[in-house]
Amino acid sequence: MKQFISTADVPSVPRLVDIALEYKKNPFKDRALGQDKTLGMIFLNPSLRTRLSTQVAAKNLGMEPIVFNIDKEGWQLEMNDGVIMNGNTSEHVKEAAAVMGQYFDILAIRTFPGLKNKEEDYTEKYINQFIKYAGVPVVSLESATLHPLQSLTDVITIKERWNEPRKPKVVMTWAPHVKALPQAVPNSFAQWINAWGEADFVITHPEGYELDEKFTNGARIEYNQEEALKDADFVYVKNWSSYRDYGKITCTDNSWMVDNEKLKNTNNAKVMHCLPVRRNVVIADEVLDGPNSIVIPEAGNRVWAAQAVLSEILKG
Ligand code: CP
Repeated sequence: MKQFISTADVPSVPRLVDIALEYKKNPFKDRALGQDKTLGMIFLNPSLRTRLSTQVAAKNLGMEPIVFNIDKEGWQLEMNDGVIMNGNTSEHVKEAAAVMGQYFDILAIRTFPGLKNKEEDYTEKYINQFIKYAGVPVVSLESATLHPLQSLTDVITIKERWNEPRKPKVVMTWAPHVKALPQAVPNSFAQWINAWGEADFVITHPEGYELDEKFTNGARIEYNQEEALKDADFVYVKNWSSYRDYGKITCTDNSWMVDNEKLKNTNNAKVMHCLPVRRNVVIADEVLDGPNSIVIPEAGNRVWAAQAVLSEILKG
């Protein structure tokens, strides 16, 4: 694998899932693979899980991870080509990415969207500038439109819990939130579930919250949440801001929050969320603290997803 930005970089999603589950059973089997190799982890935005799980994964492979909070500790980056840099930006990404490429064998980057300019966000300008100038493989730690390490984790989490011959019914439901959030996690979840191909996939959200069809790719959309959740085996809960009315909150209906009542018509569904989650806004305490929630083991699986990705890049 040459980089890890989306499913397009992965020769086989089912194979990558299996590699991750092999690492879960035997975390240190490839300790020599990353010996004398360094992973640069560049954060333009906050993170708990991605930051820590990817460092653990790198160490399991014998790599040295180095974290740089460039938003707080670095020079302010200029991302546009051809500009006269007489404003607030001090260093162009052409130099910054190229210099970091001299120090690291793999460069991993987290960069959120501005949610103001749809075209700029959806062309993935920031991460593409790093890919263009770094000169080493780039791994997304979440970009403007996708969060592939999270989605690989989510597929692993579903697969390890499903042993029946039929496909599991996986429902991704929108939930309320107080802030306008990116579409990266739901876009990516849809892309990976589709690429995995082993689930009966339904998306439910209020009208106006349709995601980019490039990612949902023919998935069933059901505007009635109760109808969508019927017989679900897995419920993936996530808020996102509107893609159509870009970056806006167009629904504040709190009845979309997932509580135990919502789970009654499911097949005793397991409840997933990428975290962080706003309790009693997105998901009720009774669900997060109850037997249906698998959000903690889901977050634990972030290590194995990252380890599978780093190992496949190290193997070239
Ligand atoms: N799910 C996730 O990416 O968590 P962090 O933002 O804390 O890394």
